[in-house]
Order: sequence, then structure tokens, then C-alpha cells
Amino acid sequence: MAQINDNFLKLQAGYLFPEIGRRVQAYAQANPQHKIIRMGIGDVTEPLPPTVIQAMHAAVDEMATRETFRGYGPEQGYDFLREAIAKHDFQNRGCPIAADEIFISDGSKCDCANILDIFSDQVRVAITDPVYPVYVDSNVMAGHTGPVDAAGRYAGIEYLPVLEENGFEVPLPQQPVDLIYLCFPNNPTGMVATRETLERWVRYAQQHGSIILFDAAYEAYITDPALPRSIYEIPGADEVAIEFRSFSKTAGFTGTRCAFIVVPKKLHGRSATGEAISLHRLWSRRHSTKFNGVPYIIQRGAAAVYTPAGQAEVTQLIRFYLENARLLREGISQLGWRCYGGVNAPYLWLKTPANQTSWQFFDVLLQQAHVVGTPGSGFGPAGEGYFRLSAFNSRENVVEAISRIQALTF
Ligand code: MLT
Repeated sequence: MAQINDNFLKLQAGYLFPEIGRRVQAYAQANPQHKIIRMGIGDVTEPLPPTVIQAMHAAVDEMATRETFRGYGPEQGYDFLREAIAKHDFQNRGCPIAADEIFISDGSKCDCANILDIFSDQVRVAITDPVYPVYVDSNVMAGHTGPVDAAGRYAGIEYLPVLEENGFEVPLPQQPVDLIYLCFPNNPTGMVATRETLERWVRYAQQHGSIILFDAAYEAYITDPALPRSIYEIPGADEVAIEFRSFSKTAGFTGTRCAFIVVPKKLHGRSATGEAISLHRLWSRRHSTKFNGVPYIIQRGAAAVYTPAGQAEVTQLIRFYLENARLLREGISQLGWRCYGGVNAPYLWLKTPANQTSWQFFDVLLQQAHVVGTPGSGFGPAGEGYFRLSAFNSRENVVEAISRIQALTF
């Protein structure tokens, strides 16, 4: 028998969202009379913007004739998309990012996990708690941790607790670390980072030789002009940070799949012999060996997001989900429950009422209100006693969910 990667055996229960899906399916099967409203996984509900659809239709037509047909594309992505991203998302905001520092991919979830390929299995990693579970699980799979303890923390990870008591500010690591995962606007808490916060992190990384893995999948939800949307708005960040971006929550691509990762050429890591090695070179090698690129049709759709019409439509989409978030926040606050996020972010983070555990509240919400959310403890031990609601839904469902939540009794 072939020997397996034993690190997988350290993982706790199944991946959070399929686990929730299983419980909800079991409930739905046993109670078919109830209409369930799903506010668990942050999955978009509104159709793709018309300009994106038109661009994809045109690209499908190109595939129909020999003259315009495309086979394998460049693994890193087509120039038309990389250039649009570099100009619009970075250079127009003063960020020193060039098109060839952008790698188009099929999702930030994969990118956040795959990036570990280019780092040693000895790296020391700092991860916030609560956190998007992919960061933790992929580090466990990569062998960067020891076993899990009774509280659900893996040995070897430097946890950065993000608590109500400290205003959900991410504390700096107590020990030097090689990799630091940061996510703003934050999944799950919906908190955002000010320029000062990001400056502090960039300074920390410069002083300690750390690399920041900056997940900006929700940057499009930032409407406050004072808040940075990219870590590269901070001078020096291109020497210490890799940024992850996605079209999933920006333009409704969760099922269409297109994202990108920015690996600046100024970024370096250290080889076993102490030599400085370009991370861009390593990632380029990894990407072209293990990935064949995102389909041409999809990349044409993504590029359409950057046209004036695409921008206007995407802005409308984001406004729509942000209004959902505002309604949810207002409806929940009326109950006197403590509720965070939901402003410049599509997630709301609530303190569970009546001192319930996260999973107890999950059950109450499902069984009494037939509303699905995500238990905070699924994002890490410090999420216990909290609960995440996603604003990605139809307006009708959001309004209905609020009235059902307001009718809950304990
Ligand atoms: C979430 O609900 O946390 C996200 O939708 C998960 C993801 O983007 O992979």
C-alpha cells in the first residue's frame, strides 16, 4: 500500500461549508414543508452583469471559427486581462504593480492554499483566529503544524486572536513568523483595515523578513474612500506582500471561476543556503507546471468587468449586497444583539444571543427560523459564541430572514 500524507489525519471534522451543507440537507429532507433561507456560505445569488455575459457570448463565437479559435492560453493569463487588472486595480490607485506580476487563476481559495508550494515545510505561520478555514487546513495538509489540541488549535501555528475586547484588531505575532495571513475586508468578521493598520503590518514584515499573504477577495465592498483596497497602497508592501483577488464576490463569478494573485518581482525568500530567491520566479514556475490557465471565454468575461459599462454594473451589484447587509445589521441590532461588520463588507458577525454556543444558535436558527448561517466556532476557537450571516441573497429572502429572526424565542 502506498503511504499517505499523514498530515491529513490531523485535520478535524470535514471542511466547514460541506459540513454545514450536510446538516442542512438532512434537516430539509426531514422537514420538506419549510422554505430554508441560506445565509451560510458566501455564495452570490444575482446573475452575472450583462456586459460580462455579452463578452462571454462573443468569446464563444470566436471559438466557432478556425481563424479566431483558441487552444491552450498562456498559463499566467491573457495579456488583455492582466493589463486591465494592473491598470485599473493597481496603477490607477498608485500601486506599483505591473501586468506581469499578476497571475490569473480559477480561485482565491486554491491560490491561498497553493502558494504554500513555494515555501519550505519549516515555515512558521501566523493566522488570525477566527479565520477563513482554508488557511489553517492547507497549512495542516502541508505539514506546517503539529496535532490539534482540545480547543481546536494546531501546535506550531501562531494564532492571532481577533476579539471583541480588542475591537477585532489583529495583534502582532508574539514570536517571529515567516508567513502572515491577513484578510481585509475580513472573512468572517466583516472588519476592515485602516491605512495605519496596514502600515503597521508592512513595517512588521519588513523588520522580521516575513511575507504577508493578503487576501483582498472582498475589497470591492469597500465604499469608504479613506480605506485602502490593496496592501500595495502602502509604500514598501511590494517587497513583503502577496495579494489574492477574486472576481467571485466582485462580479458574481463564484460559479464562473476567475481570480488572480499578485506576486511582485521585488519579493524574495531565502533558500536553504541563505541565497535570496525571487518568489515571482518560483510562483511562475509552479503556476506554469501545475496549471493550464483559465478558459479564454471566462477571461474575456472578467476583462469586461473593467469596461465603463462593466464597472457601472458591478457597482450596482455590490450596492445591492451592501444594502442587504445594512438591512440585516439594522434588523439584528433592533433585537439588542451585538452585531459587527456588514459595512464595507458582505458579512455580519454577531454575538450569539442568550449565551448560546455557535452550534446551538445554528440549530435554533435552522429549526425555528429555517435560516442557515455559519457558526463562528467553525472559523476557529475564538469564534465560539459568534455567528456569521452572509448578505449574499435576494432582497426578498433577506427581508423574510430578518422577520423570522426577529420572531425567534429562546
Ligand atoms: C465563505 O463563505 O467564507 C466563502 O464563500 C468561501 C469561499 O469563498 O471559498
